[in-house]
Amino acid sequence: MASPDRKDYYYRKAKQQNYRSRAAFKLMELQTKASILKYGDTSLEIGSSPGGWTQIIRSITERPVISIDINDMEPMEGVTFIRANISSPSIIERIKPYMEKLHIDKFSVVLSDAMSRTSGKRDIDHSSSYLLCKRVMEISMDLLAEGGSVVVKQFQGDLTVQFVNEWSSRFRNSRITTVAASRESSSEVYIIFKGYISEHETDQFSQSP
Ligand SMILES: C[S@@+](CC[C@H](N)C(=O)[O-])C[C@H]1O[C@@H](n2cnc3c(N)ncnc32)[C@H](O)[C@@H]1O
Repeated sequence: MASPDRKDYYYRKAKQQNYRSRAAFKLMELQTKASILKYGDTSLEIGSSPGGWTQIIRSITERPVISIDINDMEPMEGVTFIRANISSPSIIERIKPYMEKLHIDKFSVVLSDAMSRTSGKRDIDHSSSYLLCKRVMEISMDLLAEGGSVVVKQFQGDLTVQFVNEWSSRFRNSRITTVAASRESSSEVYIIFKGYISEHETDQFSQSP
């Protein structure tokens, strides 16, 4: 049985509207704020279970989605689910055959709501979240299309600004934002990078006179 605090406003709203999780409202808010997804986009979703974000992604893009989680997820139409840990060194090789099967060369958007079970200790939660975000960015560098976007959730801390600065040079713009659907006590922020500049294009810039 859910604890009383889980039965909050967004929890009840998700139940009423048949969303798999309250997190669906977080992505809706991010979409309203930053227009991350559009019809026809191909998406890689990390930390997908139970699938609230997946429902939103599918309803906007109406294209196949590849979703990854270390935990299982109930099947959803149009969604290829891979049960895997993104920290695994072979994760790219796990994803690529599914991309080929779906005729996806590169993804338009990579979205991550991944987070391991929180400890309640801010520093520990921040550093595990930071490492997950770093891994999402590494994966994105391989699988994201030129001009594409990345959204990552991070538990804010000392390294958050450094993280944004570190990766923002690979994108045309970046921003940090919060959503009302996060719990009041949560330190989670969402970092949105838009307009991916692939290595190839960076090289071209550096070679031009
Ligand atoms: C907050 S939940 C995601 C909720 C989901 N976005 C939704 O809308 O229903 C975070 C998820 O990240 C997953 N996760 C944590 N660490 C992971 C890892 N290393 N690899 C893959 N998934 C991971 C967890 O299993 C969990 O399901």
